[in-house]
Amino acid sequence: MRILDLGCGDLKDANQMSGEVVAIDKKITCQPAKHVSAIKGDYFDMQLEGDFDLIYSNYSLCFNKQETIEQKLPLILSHLKPGGVFQVQDFHSGDKVVKKRTNLYATWFFDLVKKEVGPFTLKDEKIFERGHNHEHWEFTLKAIKAK
Ligand SMILES: C[S@@+](CC[C@H](N)C(=O)[O-])C[C@H]1O[C@@H](n2cnc3c(N)ncnc32)[C@H](O)[C@@H]1O
Repeated sequence: MRILDLGCGDLKDANQMSGEVVAIDKKITCQPAKHVSAIKGDYFDMQLEGDFDLIYSNYSLCFNKQETIEQKLPLILSHLKPGGVFQVQDFHSGDKVVKKRTNLYATWFFDLVKKEVGPFTLKDEKIFERGHNHEHWEFTLKAIKAK
């Protein structure tokens, strides 16, 4: 299983995943586990090698401009194996935070995913963040590339 973690942050997910993980972030501040190749840089400017069973982004894509995502995400998604999964977890358009970020819970993003990967499922939920004492409205999108 080969996994690409876009915007891995402190590697909390990457270090716990099983398989071979390529984890990219502008800042790498933590120690990667043995199965993780942590790469410092902008994932939109990276030359990716090989294909992945899972391309994953947890609260990262929304920090990029819509224009950049539209222009550059298709190349990243071309590295998904047939039957591979693209999974995004991010803020729902109904969340207050989304006003300061790029809204991915939107037709332009859903159309991009449909075109580049295939049909997807969407789940949304409200989560209370204890540390900040506020509620977030989040969504998870899962798309499977046709075989
Ligand atoms: C809110 S943190 C989420 C980190 C991690 N995925 C998690 O769930 O804990 C967003 C991360 O995405 C990274 N990021 C955003 N856009 C990026 C880009 N274009 N290239 C590389 N890293 C990016 C930021 O540097 C930051 O570490």
